[in-house]
Amino acid sequence: MLSFMSRREQETGLADEFAPILPGPGGSDYERYLRTDELLALQKPPKERAHHDELLFQTVHQSSELWLKLAWNEVEAATEHLRKGEIAPALRLLRRSSLCLKLVTEQLDMLELMSPWEYTSAIRPVLGHGSGFDSPGWSNLRRVAPNLGESFHELRRKAELSLEDLYRRGREFEELYQLAEALVEVDERATMWRVRHFKVVERIIGGEVVGTQGTPVELLGGLIQRPLFPELWRVRNQLTELAKEND
Ligand code: HEM
Repeated sequence: MLSFMSRREQETGLADEFAPILPGPGGSDYERYLRTDELLALQKPPKERAHHDELLFQTVHQSSELWLKLAWNEVEAATEHLRKGEIAPALRLLRRSSLCLKLVTEQLDMLELMSPWEYTSAIRPVLGHGSGFDSPGWSNLRRVAPNLGESFHELRRKAELSLEDLYRRGREFEELYQLAEALVEVDERATMWRVRHFKVVERIIGGEVVGTQGTPVELLGGLIQRPLFPELWRVRNQLTELAKEND
């Protein structure tokens, strides 16, 4: 009788002493822990696809939702740290959020490998009223961001600093300065996602049409000018004016 050989055993010739020990479906602990059966069943199988590119489309969206989920969870955890006055661990988490946003921005490239005609004629009709405005990842990021801003301002106020003071005396208040810049980084990355997404939309469906929920695409362009922390951008104008006065 042929005994079952794991892939590791087949490829390395090493005896397999590592039979799965985790509960759940799947022939290995890798599949059980990552729940790959369920994960890989979340995309339409070939016979249900309206077009071959639906796999690409679903993969980009689903993976974006995962990265956005990580991004907002880290923002929320960073906010908790700040409420306890812990800046360094918050910075570590905010770096992750920024990187999540960079990754989702980069993967938008993949969508431009679809043909505008094939997308609009074959894929778009099967999306129903599905719209990015209902993206849980993006909505949650926007939901948790004001609390992050508030906990930063609380710490700044405790140090008796206006935003302008903090930027002028950034060397004296290194951690708070780093924190302000980490917020700007998250904000800029979110905006860069919007810029990139806007160009993808223009390239695939055009800039003078309406979305699946009736939103004019032009309106998306306007959202690019809606930062998460407007005050952190405004202060730069004040600093430039101030520098002129001191000249
Ligand atoms: C072919 C690719 C895509 C097209 C044609 C497209 C199209 C659109 C359009 C037309 C809108 C405006 C709202 C509406 O009426 O639907 C929108 C919004 C949005 N889309 Fe996409 N989208 C694409 C890919 C993506 C991807 C990969 C994501 C990732 C999660 C995404 C997330 C969003 C979000 C979050 C919004 C709201 C925008 C905001 O608040 O700034 N979209 N999209």
